[in-house]
Amino acid sequence: MCGIVGYIGTQNAVPYLIEGLSKLEYRGYDSAGIAINIDNQLKIFKTKGRLKNLEEILDPNAKSVIGIGHTRWATHGAPSNLNAHPHLNQSETIAVIHNGIIENYMEIKEWLIKDKKVTFKSETDSEVIAHLVDYFYEGDLLDAVYKAVDRMIGAYAIGVISKDEPNRLVAVRKDSPLIVGLGENENFIASDIPALLKYTRNMLLIENDEFVDLTKDKVTIYNSLRQPVEREVFKVTWDIDSAEKEGFEHFTLKEIFEQPKGVKETVLRRLNNKDEIVLEGVNFDAEILKNINKIYIVACGTAYHAGLIGRRAIEQFAKIPVECDVASEFRYRDPFVDDKTLFIAVSQSGETLDTLQSLREAKRKGARILSIVNVVGSSVARESDDLLYTWAGPEIGVASTKAYTTQLTAFYLLALYMGKLKGSIEEALYKAVINGLKTMPDLIQEVLDKGHEIQKLAAGQFNNEKVFFMGRGVDCDLAYEGSLKLKEISYINSFAIAAGELKHGTIALIEDETFVVALATQEKLYDKMLSNIKEVKARGAHVFAIAQAGNDQILKTSDEVFFIPRTMDELAPILAVVPTQLLAYYVSALRGNDVDKPRNLAKSVTVE
Ligand code: AGP
Ligand code: GLU
Repeated sequence: MCGIVGYIGTQNAVPYLIEGLSKLEYRGYDSAGIAINIDNQLKIFKTKGRLKNLEEILDPNAKSVIGIGHTRWATHGAPSNLNAHPHLNQSETIAVIHNGIIENYMEIKEWLIKDKKVTFKSETDSEVIAHLVDYFYEGDLLDAVYKAVDRMIGAYAIGVISKDEPNRLVAVRKDSPLIVGLGENENFIASDIPALLKYTRNMLLIENDEFVDLTKDKVTIYNSLRQPVEREVFKVTWDIDSAEKEGFEHFTLKEIFEQPKGVKETVLRRLNNKDEIVLEGVNFDAEILKNINKIYIVACGTAYHAGLIGRRAIEQFAKIPVECDVASEFRYRDPFVDDKTLFIAVSQSGETLDTLQSLREAKRKGARILSIVNVVGSSVARESDDLLYTWAGPEIGVASTKAYTTQLTAFYLLALYMGKLKGSIEEALYKAVINGLKTMPDLIQEVLDKGHEIQKLAAGQFNNEKVFFMGRGVDCDLAYEGSLKLKEISYINSFAIAAGELKHGTIALIEDETFVVALATQEKLYDKMLSNIKEVKARGAHVFAIAQAGNDQILKTSDEVFFIPRTMDELAPILAVVPTQLLAYYVSALRGNDVDKPRNLAKSVTVE
């Protein structure tokens, strides 16, 4: 996602655009740009990097009463000056900003290049919009935008200005957000409310498939049939800070609640209408895969914990031996790697130096590199042979939440894809996992709808300084992630352990009121977990268990139980992680910590 903003009025547009973009950087920040109309000429300023880079290249004498601006979260084409928005048509009479994805952009681009001899400058999907509007332009910008949009398939919030209509700004949305701000002799567009709050609290919330025609004095909304639409003014009562978080107290909580969308985006963009997996960016075929006899999954922190679960999925579905290692260890143990090795790097930021250096080491030894990354065009992404993007959107909270669930989702898709290529997965299992993945967004929402149960639990435990997470199988891998989440934002010294290991020493630490989080989602290990819960209960522990709905026996052995909706054992971590994220969040908030920016931590560790 990204941030778009537009101004038309009597003042200089530039400060309004920059201020608006500064409030939208949390939506994407890999490049930024503005377009303004000076004496019937379109002037563009755009650059790779953060908004401050854009401010440095602005011409202070460049002033205009109309303009559009964009802060990018790249999906098509790495962050660069050329790929930054706004985009122009060839004769530079139309400027466009776009949030979203034009799914049929290649088809449109090929037609424009081949039939209309259009020259493209960028690698983005968005640039086709500028050329399409130009193709249909016959003196009426709104009419041209209607015709251009009619050719497009995908998600978009678009702002358009024209050299020849200096007093007009046109916008349209489908699935990407768009609002209009109403001022005195000035009007605005933006991706969402924070961008405009400094100037107006009177907004028009634009619906899907609606077009907006703005001048400084008038705003008209039209539906897809070009009929004018009345819309009540929405009066904003939020302050700026809470608006960026869309009403959530912290980005971390907002991102926990964005997981249904992130998982849905990560799955659905990879399934064709026959539920076959299409992994654009993964370039190996059955022949190449046959030559792979070893896989390393290498990452740090939460990404490493996702790798632990990815390892199980790949071994189960693709029948290839997998080792999962933390990057800082992998690099220094002279691992056996050759041209029969597939190295999978997992990284939300794509800039974690330990992971990047491990990738380079593996590449030097001849391995094929596949990366699961959230930030398009990041260093890890650029140095990989195969790329599997998670579509979580920008993750601002230092604690990784939606990145984790989308990484798991990406791993399941990759493991299924490899299993299919190798013919090592039964059709029934393949279909069951695909169907399971498709239900995940709704099931995660069901878990989130019960978040109040965790809030209540946190109220009783937020001062407990001794917390254990335990589980078996994927629940053990999940225990490490749940413990890290609690540690890094609540500062409680929590601990994760394989439940079967308790009796080999650690149980000595269990005493009255020790808080134990027991992950018991695996049907085949459920009875074993019941025994482990009884073991710790017998020593005075306070047990909070997470299990699949219907397994009511656990109610008799635990103090509190959170039931996740029933799903396949393999997919249970995508659901079971959510209560552990919420637990960490509420405990941290109750302890008065800076949840989004915990002490001593950075969002991306670009040092060794
Ligand atoms: C997790 O919540 C932490 N922020 C940290 O462990 C993080 O997962 C780790 O630094 C890896 O970051 P990356 O995914 O951007 O590579
Ligand atoms: N798909 C467009 C691009 O990659 C827009 C991405 C966004 O929404 O920031 O430039």
